[in-house]
Amino acid sequence: MPWTAAGCALAVAGAVGGDGWTLVSRSCHWHVHSPAEVHEKVTKPLWLAILGNSVMRGALQALVDQLVPEAWQSFAGTEDVPGIGTNIKCWGWLDFQVGDLRLSFQDYRIWFYTEEGIRVAFERLKRVILEGPDLLVIQHYGPDVSQGQPPLVYQPLLSETLPAYFKKKKKGKIIFALSKRSPFKVALCNPQCSDRKRPHLWNHSIEGLLAKLPQDLRSSTTGRILAVDEAFVCMPLFLDGETDVPQRQASQHWHRYDRSAGPGRKVFGTAADAAGHWYLTELLTMAGARSPGAGGAGGVGGVGVANLSAKACAQCPQKPCCPWQPVPVKINHSLSVVHDMPQIKSWADLTMQSCGQLI
Ligand SMILES: *[C@@H]1O[C@H](CO)[C@@H](O)[C@H](O)[C@H]1NC(C)=O
Ligand SMILES: *[C@@H]1O[C@H](CO)[C@@H](O)[C@H](O)[C@H]1NC(C)=O
Ligand SMILES: *[C@@H]1O[C@H](CO)[C@@H](O)[C@H](O)[C@H]1NC(C)=O
Repeated sequence: MPWTAAGCALAVAGAVGGDGWTLVSRSCHWHVHSPAEVHEKVTKPLWLAILGNSVMRGALQALVDQLVPEAWQSFAGTEDVPGIGTNIKCWGWLDFQVGDLRLSFQDYRIWFYTEEGIRVAFERLKRVILEGPDLLVIQHYGPDVSQGQPPLVYQPLLSETLPAYFKKKKKGKIIFALSKRSPFKVALCNPQCSDRKRPHLWNHSIEGLLAKLPQDLRSSTTGRILAVDEAFVCMPLFLDGETDVPQRQASQHWHRYDRSAGPGRKVFGTAADAAGHWYLTELLTMAGARSPGAGGAGGVGGVGVANLSAKACAQCPQKPCCPWQPVPVKINHSLSVVHDMPQIKSWADLTMQSCGQLI
């Protein structure tokens, strides 16, 4: 995929960065859709779901922050208490829909779960796949996979669910993603420049996984099961994280929150914004979304966006850590299961276990 190619950076349009950063590469750029363009292109139901850790959540929340009317209410004024979850620091399931666009996040860290936890997480994952997101992004982790070893744990699960998934979603795609890494954990410049090999090795790992699928299924995965390595934005942007360099967080967040009470962008960071827009663009492209018309008026909080109906569900536990617990197989607060929901006046009224439609 173009964005994994070494040397190919991103042009992040002013519409995206909440903090004024713009990175323009000499060799290529990535078109970032403005909120008005996105909403204009979504003319039928489209669902992006991202499963991963807090780093991946930042990418999804940056999209929510841009695309959901009055999203700031959901983030404004929340306190961050270490070890305690909120519906911002959601260690469960977060589900937003605006117009026909659905954006979901699920906490998913199989690399921390017990054997039983992995079993539950895989049952949950099967359920999510069969609910049919148009684009499902699954974060994977482990030194083995970036060395070229296939993540074979997924083979039985894919064999079981893909036939039904491909039948339900004729264009649906699943992306296995290696997350952005902390620049404080990698050798910045080792002699082999091994980082440049990582996307190829990761690509090779996923090919290894697909090679283990039954023959008839394997042919239908072409172009529909993909490998993405998000690492390449980290080096040029390594000062643009949540924590200061001296704090040297091992799990660097590429998004930051503005926790003040007033309106405005609340979740941003160029790398987080960029990752969210890669997946969003892929979703729009694969769905054959029309090119934007000449108009495209609106923008964040503009008339076109503000008029779209919006609803959300949250099932965010207070303490899934530590150790990390998988999200239960069946959850009660998801847009897949709740259809009649109370009206709420502000996203601030969406509790950690509830659904609501904004009026
Ligand atoms: C990944 O694999 C696909 C399919 O074999 C190939 O077309 C693509 O060029 C590879 N990309 C990288 C970065 O190795
Ligand atoms: C949005 O709603 C306002 C007030 O109801 C209306 O004047 C405006 O035309 C609407 N805009 C769009 C794009 O539907
Ligand atoms: C869902 O609701 C049922 C019935 O109230 C309850 O027993 C169950 O624990 C809930 N599930 C979750 C994941 O909260």
